[in-house]
Amino acid sequence: MFTYSDLRAQDPAVFSALQGEMKRQAEGVELIASENYVSPAVMETMGTVFNNKYSEGYPGKRYYAGQEFTDQVETLAIERAKQLFRCGHANVQPHAGCPANVAMYFALLEPGDCVLGMDLSHGGHLSHGHPVTYLTKIFRFVRYGMKDIETGEIDYDAMRAMAKKEKPKILLGGFSAYPRELDYAKMKAIADEVGAITVMDMAHIAGLIAGGALKNPFDYGFDVVTTTTHKTLRGPRGGMILSKDAEIGKKIDKSVFPGFQGGPIMQMIAAKAVAFGEALRPEFKEYAAQIIRNSKHLAQYLMERGAKLITNGTDNHLMLVDCIQSWGIAGGEVETVLDSVGITLNKNSIPNDQRKPMDPSGVRLGTPAITTRGMKERDMEILADFILATIERRSDAAALKNLGAEVKAFCLKFPVPGIKA
Ligand SMILES: Cc1ncc(COP(=O)(O)O)c(C=O)c1O
Repeated sequence: MFTYSDLRAQDPAVFSALQGEMKRQAEGVELIASENYVSPAVMETMGTVFNNKYSEGYPGKRYYAGQEFTDQVETLAIERAKQLFRCGHANVQPHAGCPANVAMYFALLEPGDCVLGMDLSHGGHLSHGHPVTYLTKIFRFVRYGMKDIETGEIDYDAMRAMAKKEKPKILLGGFSAYPRELDYAKMKAIADEVGAITVMDMAHIAGLIAGGALKNPFDYGFDVVTTTTHKTLRGPRGGMILSKDAEIGKKIDKSVFPGFQGGPIMQMIAAKAVAFGEALRPEFKEYAAQIIRNSKHLAQYLMERGAKLITNGTDNHLMLVDCIQSWGIAGGEVETVLDSVGITLNKNSIPNDQRKPMDPSGVRLGTPAITTRGMKERDMEILADFILATIERRSDAAALKNLGAEVKAFCLKFPVPGIKA
């Protein structure tokens, strides 16, 4: 465990905020689908002297001297990533998921080129060409989506028709709010018909793929995979770009540095190496499988008690609830009342949402963080009961206070890695 004695002595204001955050994490339930708790070893590595070193370039080809040990850790991160995801090339330098996607676009596209990606209202991510991003000033984004939001099946016929019409350079998979799995074989066949490169942004499900609980796009011939390292993969905050072979890898490397970024954040790269080492262990397979077991169990239990889930269930770590249909209130109201009892999740748009993005109809829940804490199927039922009781008794201040105390007592049975209870 960390003592933070220097920080405490030197900067009480920052220490006090840190203490508050540690208490919040230990005493509350984290259901935000993109969050997780890293191991003490990963956390420790993030706070090391690798922070002090400038290492522009790549192992063996740096711009400054003194790189013996930075080369060692970056090479470890690269080799472990390649082993974990069964691919030929890894760039572990992107500072986060969005920078990884931007570097990927610039590696593979010319200005004006087209990307066919998932409809943002069906679960796609901002960095897949949302109109508010600068990306749309440079590239052209067109969309595919679900054929049927009751099953979540993607409309692959419409995807093929769109690909033939728009001739995208990239066929892009990936999402932050889609609870089903993509058919990579179908996507690859469509991409081949129109000569597009296949890219999967696996940010949300990287840990599930690493642990063998979901399919690996490289096994279906995908060319490039981008990801964050801090969600289901349970590493430090950061990004990564993987590619099938060294040829594409060379373009990616040039695009990340010097094309887009400067010096790599070496303490994070060292922590990525540690996290990938953890993900290569057999226990991680069990972790990934348990995330999905918990997610399916929570989804089923909520649905049996009247919750309306988009696609009527889940195959991965997340679920999207239509709060208007379930409880007659908006997602924001559900988010706020649950937060008041120590249950954290996020309001989220649902497909074809009639409400505005800042005041959407749904909420998104995910199980990666609670699974790291050791919660199992029976605990999902307890959690769901807390959620449903909180929503039902949302106008009863005394009931909410009691529920908050019960949530806290429940959470303290499941320590957060790195935080002393
Ligand atoms: C699918 C997907 N791609 C990219 C990102 C962006 O990652 P970051 O927030 O690290 O830039 C996210 C983050 O939520 C995501 O869900």
